[in-house]
Amino acid sequence: MVMAGLIIKSVFLIVLMLGVDHAGSSSSPAIKAAYWPSWDSNFTAMAIDTSHFTHVHYAFLLPDNITYSLVVSSTEGLLLSNFTSTLLHNKDHKVKTMLSLGGAGGDSSAIFARMASNVSSRQIFISSTIEIARKYGFDGLDLDWEYPATPKEMYDLGQLLNEWRVALKQEANITCQSPLLLSAATYFSPEFFLDKIFRSYPVDSMKKNLDWVNAMFYDYHGGWDTSTTGAHAALFDINSKLSTSYGLQSWIKSGLPRNMLVMGLPLYGRTWQLENHQNHGVGAPAIAIGPGDLGQLTFSQVVDFNKQQNARVVFDAATVSTYSYAGDIWIGYDGPLSTTLKIGYARAHGLRGYFFWAVNGDKKWQISKQGKVFIGDPF
Ligand SMILES: *[C@@H]1O[C@H](CO)[C@@H](O)[C@H](O)[C@H]1NC(C)=O
Ligand SMILES: *[C@@H]1O[C@H](CO)[C@@H](O)[C@H](O)[C@H]1NC(C)=O
Ligand SMILES: *[C@@H]1O[C@H](CO)[C@@H](O)[C@H](O)[C@H]1NC(C)=O
Ligand SMILES: *[C@@H]1O[C@H](CO)[C@@H](O)[C@H](O)[C@H]1NC(C)=O
Ligand SMILES: *[C@@H]1O[C@H](CO)[C@@H](O)[C@H](O)[C@H]1NC(C)=O
Repeated sequence: MVMAGLIIKSVFLIVLMLGVDHAGSSSSPAIKAAYWPSWDSNFTAMAIDTSHFTHVHYAFLLPDNITYSLVVSSTEGLLLSNFTSTLLHNKDHKVKTMLSLGGAGGDSSAIFARMASNVSSRQIFISSTIEIARKYGFDGLDLDWEYPATPKEMYDLGQLLNEWRVALKQEANITCQSPLLLSAATYFSPEFFLDKIFRSYPVDSMKKNLDWVNAMFYDYHGGWDTSTTGAHAALFDINSKLSTSYGLQSWIKSGLPRNMLVMGLPLYGRTWQLENHQNHGVGAPAIAIGPGDLGQLTFSQVVDFNKQQNARVVFDAATVSTYSYAGDIWIGYDGPLSTTLKIGYARAHGLRGYFFWAVNGDKKWQISKQGKVFIGDPF
């Protein structure tokens, strides 16, 4: 009975998605991207099955705190050249390589803020990014500033992108090469409406200067709220704005063209410990997070956990997400079905494509390959 209801809801959802098909309206090539964490020595660039992707991002390099040039140690240099040569010399499936700058942890948001506040440090940073990207044979650059913290920093980001685009064009002109691509990873919404300091992304500058935007449509729930379980990358949430559909609609309303928007998809889950193991839905009371560092497990670890613990796996049609539970452990993540439906939703809304954080989290490419369900189209 429950199962039949689920199936009917899912079919309804798919019909809904196909009903508003904007796909094919743009001539820009589709993007199926993934970030590769360079620090995971267990998952080398060689391990990436490039047939699933159009772009792979090297994560991450940072600018020096004082000079604002990119820092490349000798070991990092070896990783960079190994990454691009491994991916570029893959004849069967030519992917483009993107050099990603920043990332979540550490001091990077403060360094970016200081760098972007001043025209001469912006110029130093920009020249350095172009020099390093060319030196190691990348096709493009990606800014992952998490996050500009004030309206002034958002303004500075707009200035940075204006000057970056000019520099990329000039360099391409002088060296007679195609210009390096330029993308940015962003918050799930163009407006930070939850924080004390309200601020919005400089959408006009982004629209003019970026090739596309990787919107991080995940982390809506996590270790900062131990009291309830949550679908951390919910497509829908009728109770709050913390959802991918809300973020996607707000980016479109802000004026960012649909074909510049790339949907972030997680290759990881978030874990909680249930207050009562008999109450195990999305939003059930919880008392702590875990297992996993900061309550996170890669998709691959979730699959292993489910098998070892004989966990019950549930597709939740209301949020379009997957969860599993065993004893009092609860994990919210995206399985193959929720991923396929979200990719279908992205396609139906005319987005440019999707990306995964992070490529080392998949298990036998089960999730990465879901885009192939859609036949005869860009993605
Ligand atoms: C690599 O795998 C080993 C064994 O599973 C693990 O102990 C180690 O933490 C992993 N290293 C990284 C960088 O993830
Ligand atoms: C970076 O520089 C600022 C001041 O210029 C300083 O406050 C901060 O501690 C430095 N951070 C690191 C990681 O060195
Ligand atoms: C990259 O590194 C791997 C080992 O981590 C090695 O097997 C491979 O040959 C290297 N590739 C290139 C092109 O340097
Ligand atoms: C701007 O940045 C340059 C280069 O880092 C530095 O020399 C200069 O002092 C900065 N100016 C201001 C006003 O911060
Ligand atoms: C490209 O270079 C030529 C010759 O140096 C110059 O005339 C032209 O203005 C440049 N175009 C751009 C977009 O920089």
